[in-house]
Amino acid sequence: MPQAGFLGTAVTWSADVTLLLEIGMGMGLLAGASLARAKCYRAHAVCQSMIVLLNVGLIAMTMIPSLRHQVIPKLPRKIAKPYYAFATAHATLGGIAELGGLYILLSAGTKWLPEKIRITRYKFWMRGVLILWWLVLLLGIATYWHWNVPRS
Ligand code: HEM
Repeated sequence: MPQAGFLGTAVTWSADVTLLLEIGMGMGLLAGASLARAKCYRAHAVCQSMIVLLNVGLIAMTMIPSLRHQVIPKLPRKIAKPYYAFATAHATLGGIAELGGLYILLSAGTKWLPEKIRITRYKFWMRGVLILWWLVLLLGIATYWHWNVPRS
C-alpha cells in the first residue's frame, strides 16, 4: 500500500516529494539564471546542469509510470476531462522542456553533438527553455491539484 502524503491532500508520499522537489528545482533554475547575469558562468553551468539531470531521474521514476498507468489507457476518449487534459498538456510540454534542457547542456557542456547542430543563440534557447519549464511547472501543480485535492 502506498505511503500517505504529508501535505494533507489525498495523495501518495512520492507525489508530495515530487511536488516540493519540482518547485525547488524551478526556483533553482531562476537562481542559476541570476548567476549568469552576475557573470558567474561556471557556477551557472553546474547549477543548471544538475537540475536538468536530476529532473530526468524524477520524470523516469515518478511521472512516466503515472502517465503510463493513469493517463495513456484513457486517451483519447477522456482528453476533455481536466484530470487528463492537464496531465497530457503537462507531459507533452514537459517532454519538450526537458529535451530542450538536455540539448542546451549537450551543446554548451560537451563536444558530443556535431558542430552543425550545436546551439549558437544560447541566450535565446536558455530563456525559452526557462519560460517553458515554468509553464510546465505550473501545469504540474495544476495536475497535482486536479488529481489530489478533493472538491466539495
Ligand atoms: C520540466 C519538466 C517537468 C516539470 C517541471 C514537472 C513538474 C511536475 C510537478 C510539480 C508535478 C506534481 C507532483 C506530482 O503529482 O507528482 C508533476 C506531476 C506529473 N508529471 Fe511532471 N514535470 C515535468 C515533466 C514531465 C514529463 C516529461 C512527463 C511525461 C512523462 C510528466 C508527467 C507527469 C504526470 C503524469 C504527473 C502526475 C503524477 C502523479 O501525481 O502521480 N511530467 N510534474
